[in-house]
Amino acid sequence: MKTLTVALPGREYDILIEKGLLDRAGEYCRGVLPKAKRLAVVTDSNVAPLYLQRVQTALKSVGFVVEGIVVPAGEASKSLEMLGRLYDQMLSFGLSRTDAVVALGGGVVGDLAGFAAATVLRGVDYVQIPTTLLAQVDSSVGGKVAIDLPAGKNLAGAFWQPKLVLMDPECLNTLSDKVFSDGMAEVIKYGCIRDKEFFDFLDQCGGRSGVMEHSEQVLHTCCDIKRQVVLADERDTGLRMILNFGHTVGHAFELAGHYEDWTHGQAVAAGMVWAARLGEMLGVTPAGMQEKICAVLEKYTLPTRILCPWETMVEAIGLDKKRAEGGISFVLLDRLGWAEPKKMNTDQLLEQLKRLYEETA
Ligand code: GLY
Repeated sequence: MKTLTVALPGREYDILIEKGLLDRAGEYCRGVLPKAKRLAVVTDSNVAPLYLQRVQTALKSVGFVVEGIVVPAGEASKSLEMLGRLYDQMLSFGLSRTDAVVALGGGVVGDLAGFAAATVLRGVDYVQIPTTLLAQVDSSVGGKVAIDLPAGKNLAGAFWQPKLVLMDPECLNTLSDKVFSDGMAEVIKYGCIRDKEFFDFLDQCGGRSGVMEHSEQVLHTCCDIKRQVVLADERDTGLRMILNFGHTVGHAFELAGHYEDWTHGQAVAAGMVWAARLGEMLGVTPAGMQEKICAVLEKYTLPTRILCPWETMVEAIGLDKKRAEGGISFVLLDRLGWAEPKKMNTDQLLEQLKRLYEETA
């Protein structure tokens, strides 16, 4: 078993990583929820047939009364309407303030169930059991929970840290190659921003099967980097921004594809290449970085180039709105394994981006 502790004062929690952990969810949840009687296990229609029964059995074996709540798979479930339905189901189940929520699934389930936990009855405890690679290395750790609003994604949310995160790398075996690659973009990102050796290791692994041979170590490395960043900047006012390496331009690709043409990971992959090119053009990032990143992304069948309209890029980066403020922070690589947010003049950034855009188009 690999264990990491997110030592936030008064809200400390462990991340446990081990194959087969789903079947031992009961004992670990009981350890952190000694007073809870009822657990509302929120999952989605893809994950429920695979793992809900197993997790419910494990939780019941230590005396919890368990209710499974299944939402339709997909981003559309991160809605106010679905949140309202969750509240209703949790309250009809008899959830009290000493009870807890379990989020069993990917990022959508973690964000939605986490936000329900943060707000129902003015906040109850919750446990994250992430089942996708993206959720295991990113969204289940760090306490950001949210739903989408008609005005945009993640616009209503909270910082609400879980009591425990349980990761079973065997859950990754049931992911399609596309969903696995989606998570690999974030895995590669950790190498880029904080760990060159890890980046080189991912290069050597050469693909999904190589990573799966070392799955516990890979999850541990990613979560350890995220843990350190969250400890330094829980509320996302500075350093936490480095986790968004590649996400700024990636957001433009997601927006241009109406969140359908490209997965988040695919968009982030191509966004990291853009960020490397921009850094190289500005003389911040050593030359040749984009080729290095592209070579690893390709091993994990991630795109290195996505086209989108210039106007969408300007809008997604917020350059249309931020002009008046005179500056914008953009995460660039000082070297492979070290990223920093760089405060840049908006006009200068627009000009450089336009140059890169014209080279790409
Ligand atoms: N996913 C980025 C963060 O947790 O801050």
